[in-house]
Amino acid sequence: MASLTVDYYTSTCPPAEIMVKNIVYQALRSDSTASAGLLRMHFHDCFVEGCDGSVLIDSTADNTAEKDSPPNQSLHGFEIIDQAKQVIERICPGVVSCADILTMAARDAVAWAGGPSYDVPKGRKDGRRSKIEDTSSLPPPSLNSTKLIELFGQSGFTAQEVVTLAGAHTLGVAQCKFFKNRLRGFDSTNDVDPTLNPNFANMLSSVCSSGDSTNVSLDWTSDSFDNRYFIALQMGGGVLTSDQTLFTSPETKEVVSTYAMSQDKFFFDFSQVIVKLGMLNVKEGDEGEVRLDCRKIN
Ligand code: HEM
Repeated sequence: MASLTVDYYTSTCPPAEIMVKNIVYQALRSDSTASAGLLRMHFHDCFVEGCDGSVLIDSTADNTAEKDSPPNQSLHGFEIIDQAKQVIERICPGVVSCADILTMAARDAVAWAGGPSYDVPKGRKDGRRSKIEDTSSLPPPSLNSTKLIELFGQSGFTAQEVVTLAGAHTLGVAQCKFFKNRLRGFDSTNDVDPTLNPNFANMLSSVCSSGDSTNVSLDWTSDSFDNRYFIALQMGGGVLTSDQTLFTSPETKEVVSTYAMSQDKFFFDFSQVIVKLGMLNVKEGDEGEVRLDCRKIN
């Protein structure tokens, strides 16, 4: 069982936390979209083979890594992790894992964007495997609430926790290709998804006429971590099928309404569920290593 602790680096690398925070905050001052990038990267790390920094590894001549899979191609912020790692390596060589740096960086990104502040347990080791085929465990945006609950249930999350985690979509954007099937005229036969607010659907159609890779904000404040995502869902303003389903499905609707009403409740629950996400299948001791370069297995 995982025995990670909040003060894991207190004696071996006391400045680790503050160094990560400084570098993340500095990076976000010049690019505020990186908060979404870091949070999503942490999720995609943890949901594929556990939180072991495997998403950070670059492909090589004989291995196509997770990073190059379709859902990971739009991940961004890797250079922030590299920078934190380089600074920390100079002061405490071979001590702080890339998986821990990513977990701390995602935490700092949430706080920077106005979200809750929370402590994260540390002590994860970095994995030695990163294969494109493993990313099939990531949820596609077409999933309905029942399927989402089933998929996240396999990792030990409750239906309520699925909604809480999806609240991460308070940050960031999605490309039109991930939701254009919900709009009229983009696929040959389809009608507008009836769960979409008609005015919102018109706006999306007009924006997406610029092309598949056009970005649309997942709620109307893409750089601030708040509860507006849930208010948007109540208004038929969920961008992805997997977002709107949380309000249309009776299994999860109540939770959406609770969070739409209380940002405090959302923040409290999010702090807990994100720590739980960060504990998924973590590697300890000999199960992993402390990578010296986050992009390469030692
Ligand atoms: C519930 C199932 C989920 C599905 C189906 C899903 C799917 C997606 C998709 C399709 C995008 C747009 C990617 C792009 O346009 O390139 C996205 C963006 C994002 N996702 Fe999720 N996601 C889910 C859960 C989560 C969770 C649990 C987190 C974090 C805890 C998360 C964090 C994010 C963030 C922050 C973005 C914006 C990224 C950016 O702007 O760079 N997602 N998600």
